[in-house]
Amino acid sequence: MTTYVTTPIYYVNALPHLGHAYTTIVTDVYSRFRRLCGDEVRFQTGTDEHGEKIAEAAAKAGETPRQYADRIAAAFAETWPHLAIQPDHIIRTTDPVHVRTVQGILQLVHDRGDIYFSEYEGLYCQGCERFLTEKELVEGNCPDHQAPPKLINEQNYFFRMSNYQEWLIEHIHRNPEFITPERYRNEVLSFLSEPLEDLCISRPTSRLTWGVPLPFDEKFVTYVWFDALINYLTGIGYPDGPDFPRYWAEAEHVIAKDILKPHAIYWPTMLRAMGLAPFKRLHVHGYWNVDATKMSKSLGNVIRPVELVATHGVDTVRYFVLREMSFGLDASFSSDAILARHNSDLANDLGNLFSRSLTMIDKYADGRMPVREAEAACTPDDQELMSAMSAMMVQYRDNMDGFRFHRALQAIWEVIGLLNRYIVNNAPWELAKNPRQAERLQTVLSFLGEALWKITVVLKPVMPETAGKMATALGMSESFVAVTIDDISGWNRLPAGVVIDKGTQLFPRLEKKAPADGTQVAPKGPGKKKESPGDGAGLITFDQFKTVELRVGEIVAAEKVAKSERLLKLTVKAPEERTIVAGIAAQYSPEALIGQRVIVAANLKPAKLMGILSHGMVLAAKEEQPDGTEKLVLATVAGPIAPGSRVA
Ligand code: MSP
Repeated sequence: MTTYVTTPIYYVNALPHLGHAYTTIVTDVYSRFRRLCGDEVRFQTGTDEHGEKIAEAAAKAGETPRQYADRIAAAFAETWPHLAIQPDHIIRTTDPVHVRTVQGILQLVHDRGDIYFSEYEGLYCQGCERFLTEKELVEGNCPDHQAPPKLINEQNYFFRMSNYQEWLIEHIHRNPEFITPERYRNEVLSFLSEPLEDLCISRPTSRLTWGVPLPFDEKFVTYVWFDALINYLTGIGYPDGPDFPRYWAEAEHVIAKDILKPHAIYWPTMLRAMGLAPFKRLHVHGYWNVDATKMSKSLGNVIRPVELVATHGVDTVRYFVLREMSFGLDASFSSDAILARHNSDLANDLGNLFSRSLTMIDKYADGRMPVREAEAACTPDDQELMSAMSAMMVQYRDNMDGFRFHRALQAIWEVIGLLNRYIVNNAPWELAKNPRQAERLQTVLSFLGEALWKITVVLKPVMPETAGKMATALGMSESFVAVTIDDISGWNRLPAGVVIDKGTQLFPRLEKKAPADGTQVAPKGPGKKKESPGDGAGLITFDQFKTVELRVGEIVAAEKVAKSERLLKLTVKAPEERTIVAGIAAQYSPEALIGQRVIVAANLKPAKLMGILSHGMVLAAKEEQPDGTEKLVLATVAGPIAPGSRVA
């Protein structure tokens, strides 16, 4: 079987936040799940780089649209590895192959008679980059951007979308899975109960030049949505790439409710006009709010995924977003909620079950997976466990396939609860006291081991790092790499005799870090000294300040780090030469840096970045720009001074 699954391509007018991360995590989890089922999977994400919004944001940032798009597209691409997201392809609408594909399609649809030239007057929302109907307005405003649309009168090209309205209604009725969850399908059908207007698909170059030129009229560029949706075809080699037919037949798109209309109406009708079959399924999720308020730059509550990962760990973030949001409905993020999920579901339920089970296998079975008694000797407790595991597997598959991730996880956590009870009921520590119960003890332990292996495998798509650790601790790291769901169906799938490692702690408990903003968390643990500020009010003592060794450094060599848009490898004299990796490639070219004096934090523990060991950090000032991007300028000294001089 084949799977082709996509995220929306994100506008490059803002840096990635929790909302973008959620859609992309979901898509990554789904693709990993399909791989686990044995499918050949293609997972695509990318960036949407043309149009008015981007041209305007670039102008504000004092950059050309291309420089600007390059910078933000790199920020998106560099975010995904932090979240353990592994797309097979990252497309950019400025890729020349995409531009050619868009032009080919425009010509085709034009030749088929579905594009015409006309004058139009309508209410245009710049935020949405589309004309709105009167009905969509709320008190005269665009409901998404809370601003009145502009009345625009223009000559433009139009796509005969209305030609395909009847066909689309019929298609949605015939294919209940085409748009899910059902509420969004109903929303689309309700919209389609009114006559569809044709779609304006061009913008005059007098107003906008940052777009794909129309192949049949150079005075116009393509409307950004017509350009953007086509990415789903470009990425798999439309029209004549060898894999195109195979992938397109299985296409599934994941989006949030904000872009339902372009995906559920423009896109299928465009495909129909091109003579292509529509995509297979459209999965629509709700919106993340923060502390029950809309996430917005002006409120200063935008959640950056990389920061979340730094404080909570990648798998906690992945688990949290999937478990907390019922796919289709809105959800609210709060630092208390993620902390609670981490400590309760992950550290307590899963983490404790895992470590207590392995500790017992270590103690009572010499650290090897034990052999189980014959089936006939199973107690009702064992039977209950086996049937609960089988039921979980069915629910897991069904819910993962149906994008009900929170339910799939609930099903796993139900068996985790059951296993914790199984341990209490069967009390291996009591069985160990009675030599006549030796066989029973081994059976109980083997049930635990086997159940943990199954849990490891089903968690692999959601928490790849943790599942990897679990597999290693269970002595199954080799099988883990290519394991499929069929490999864990039935029982006795974990070979007796494999050597386990009880020393793995999966999730150290986290506690709220005192006290400044209450949003940070820190690992909890006996004997670990809290890094509390000197007087508890965010101030530090001079002695604390002195612990950071700041020195003047001179950059003597600089080069780009392969496969990174952000990192430079610097050789800095301070006074001895050391390698420092710095995230300044977007702002500084390597040549411009040679000879520059910088301030170096010299006594930082070395850390590996893209495989290069960095000994310290160069300091830079950051300024958030109105568009949410960051301006970065290196810190330096005001006059000539020898490299290595202490800064204090
Ligand atoms: N460029 C268009 C999409 C073109 S696809 C052919 C676009 N880009 S966007 O950057 O605005 O991204 C919108 C998508 O980002 C949403 O559909 C959703 O996937 C994600 N999210 C943005 N904010 C979100 C939340 N607050 N909550 C959940 N997801 C959100 O629209």
